[in-house]
Amino acid sequence: MTDEASANTSTGRQRAAVLRGLGTHLPSRTVTNEELSQRLDTSDEWIRTRTGIRQRYWAEQGTATGDLATEAGTRALKAAGCDGVDAVILATSTPDHHCPGTAPDVAARLELGTVPAFDISAVCAGFVYALATAAGTIAAGIAERVLVIGAETYSTILDPQDRNTSVIFGDGAGAVVLEAGAADEPGALLGFDLGSDGRYKDLITVPAGGSRQRAQGPEDDPSQFCFTMQGKQVFTHAVTRMGESSEALLGRVGWSAESVDRFVGHQANVRILHALSDQLGIDRDRAVVNLDRVGNTSAASIPLALADGVNSKEIKAGDRVLMTAFGGGLTWGSTALIWPDINVV
Ligand code: COA
Repeated sequence: MTDEASANTSTGRQRAAVLRGLGTHLPSRTVTNEELSQRLDTSDEWIRTRTGIRQRYWAEQGTATGDLATEAGTRALKAAGCDGVDAVILATSTPDHHCPGTAPDVAARLELGTVPAFDISAVCAGFVYALATAAGTIAAGIAERVLVIGAETYSTILDPQDRNTSVIFGDGAGAVVLEAGAADEPGALLGFDLGSDGRYKDLITVPAGGSRQRAQGPEDDPSQFCFTMQGKQVFTHAVTRMGESSEALLGRVGWSAESVDRFVGHQANVRILHALSDQLGIDRDRAVVNLDRVGNTSAASIPLALADGVNSKEIKAGDRVLMTAFGGGLTWGSTALIWPDINVV
């Protein structure tokens, strides 16, 4: 344990990971439902009513996940007023390369020195998994400050001919700085509920390109290297798993559903968020919704929704905030905190 970790122990206040700053970045190119309707058998009306999405952002050719992550990381460090951290954890399922991880490159570009840096692959639940990993690292006294980033460029793995997926996903990045502090101060992550169920791994998958279904060369079907999703089944699992996980987390933290001021769920589909709110007994208008503007940004979804919630003044200092996410794997996770008075850049 570091000196700081012992000091917290000696004050009798329980050591915890505390949110100190939040930064986000979106690519400049907006893709509207109308634009997609021009080349796919779909319509603005279908996309809006079935998903709630009006537009999303897609990175320009040549922009990679690491570029978005570096921008968001820069802003999170600025928001937290710090120029150094002890570790960088990047949640993404669209890394710059299969190998190496994207986080070391992001750490180097942020001039953070030779700190440990690694990726977490838990698809849309990745950011909550990364928060839990960072919180554990801080609780163990291994690090004082950790930069946690969720960044994605799903536009690079979408099948442009597939209307089931092309209309849903967007690119973007969000990042937070977590720092060792006390469990009873605003911003402290109060607990986690995480889970997975690999029996349903095929519901969300990029079939080829890994070691299971190797690239063969010219005879490859390009669509096998693109993201696929069984939407209807995923919808049902998303509601059930995020619902159960949120309830488990609320029990652990000791909050009733009615006492939650703001509910920040993974931004996949507004109908999922409504079903989830109803299941949990949290008023629908307490759910932060920004998927209409950004679509489903996978691991970047939670930090982008938090930032929009703060900027729109839906999330205020002192609010009880519940976060829950669900993704391929299947994976899911929830966490909660009292919102701190921090900068969002
Ligand atoms: N435009 C127009 N029609 C479309 C369409 C599109 N973009 N996508 C699907 N359809 C059609 C289907 O082909 C189907 O037609 P059919 O009745 O003639 O067969 C019809 O719309 C209904 O399709 P279905 O898949 O049942 O729609 P849905 O109401 O389940 O909505 C999703 C589809 C993908 C929006 C929805 O299932 C969903 O949001 N799933 C969860 C996604 C998610 O959470 N993903 C991320 C988890 S990390």
